[in-house]
Amino acid sequence: MNLRDTLKINGAGHLEIGGIDTVDLCRQYGTPLYALDYAYIKKVATAFGETLRKQYGKGAVAFASKAFSATAVYKLISDLGLFSDVVSKGEMYTALKGGMAAEKLVMHGNNKQDYEIDYAVMNGIGYIVVDSTDEPEIIDNAAKKYGVIQKVLVRLNPGVEAHTHHLVQTAREDSKFGFSIKSGDADTAIKRLFDYKNIRFSGIHCHIGSQIFDRNAFGLAAHIMTDYICKLRDEFGITTDVLNLGGGFGVHYTDKDPLYTAEDYAGYVDFIAEAVNRNVAEKKIPKPFLIIEPGRSLIAESGITLYTVGTVKDIKGIKKYYAIDGGMFENPRYALYRSEYSAIVANKAGEPFGETVTLTGKCCESGDMIAVDIPLQKAVRGDIVAVFSTGAYNYSMSSHYNGNLTPPVVMVKDGKSDYIIKPESYEDFVKNHNIPDFI
Ligand SMILES: Cc1ncc(COP(=O)(O)O)c(C=O)c1O
Repeated sequence: MNLRDTLKINGAGHLEIGGIDTVDLCRQYGTPLYALDYAYIKKVATAFGETLRKQYGKGAVAFASKAFSATAVYKLISDLGLFSDVVSKGEMYTALKGGMAAEKLVMHGNNKQDYEIDYAVMNGIGYIVVDSTDEPEIIDNAAKKYGVIQKVLVRLNPGVEAHTHHLVQTAREDSKFGFSIKSGDADTAIKRLFDYKNIRFSGIHCHIGSQIFDRNAFGLAAHIMTDYICKLRDEFGITTDVLNLGGGFGVHYTDKDPLYTAEDYAGYVDFIAEAVNRNVAEKKIPKPFLIIEPGRSLIAESGITLYTVGTVKDIKGIKKYYAIDGGMFENPRYALYRSEYSAIVANKAGEPFGETVTLTGKCCESGDMIAVDIPLQKAVRGDIVAVFSTGAYNYSMSSHYNGNLTPPVVMVKDGKSDYIIKPESYEDFVKNHNIPDFI
């Protein structure tokens, strides 16, 4: 359980977030409901940003907005001085609507569509990260059309793979992302960029994995990437202005994961800054503009999802299910990759955990689980369950499966709350449906 910062148990024995009793939130907005804590996002974003500035100097924290793409989040992030990455026209459109400056956006994607590149260039995007051999020509054409020189980074595969506590240095070439350094594909891709008049090679990018707690993984990536900057200079006379080391910093989902504070996240940045500073000094290369792209770590733990308990099914000696009014349509992460969560009965938060239960959704899929065999208070129909750390990759992966509306999202701050994503109606739900004349 991660009761920290504004997440606490109040005098009524209820879970509170952002100074508001979650039971009141449910009364006001209904369930299922995503709630995001403004203070958490601000604290972690500030820690990342300030540490990068102090320990490194020139650089930027780019929120990996696939974690939660919403106008209010882009507004908050840009007010805090962050950049953002986007992976589609839809994310870029939302970012611009949220007031994010185009030049602070970095576009990723292993299969960017021509219309996405056109839109990005037309709107003056900061950087496009080249991730396929076809892209330079499409970018060049778009840049020519709009009379600009488009800055690009190239996504590299540095042969470092890190997930949770496992760090492996691999020669694995099988990834849909990036050009391999080892095979020489990276050299070829970068040299080719100089054939295009409307593109400027600005730098290199890598992203080594997700939910990483081993900071050495970032140190290793920094080392390999700065070595490569050196190679570009020494072998091909190419200057690299930007080094983007991606995201992937781990968060707390269950007590198996460390519970990091904003200071701990600052520690990651400190470590990365120190590794890059050391390597560039040793190799005598100009200090690149350093970008990091945290997604999950900026927003996952700001979020909880609130549900109402419905059916309680006790299969004696096997499993006890609490069916909640959400499910894989608003959090598909268990169904996708068996992710784990911790939870609390929000209106009985002060009571001890006496049960081992499985939180299951309302969808017609056996794999429609939110959390399996977790400790929880005893609950009955009508109780409120809060699942922690649902701020990243939940709303953004939601769907309408089984005719369920995507739940609204509220942001809470100092006892105030408001929608950042309003509730859908059934009218919205069918607004693009069409019955052809021939039926
Ligand atoms: C290119 C890139 N950058 C950043 C991220 C963010 O990763 P995380 O949310 O684990 O920090 C991702 C996640 O897939 C990514 O693909």
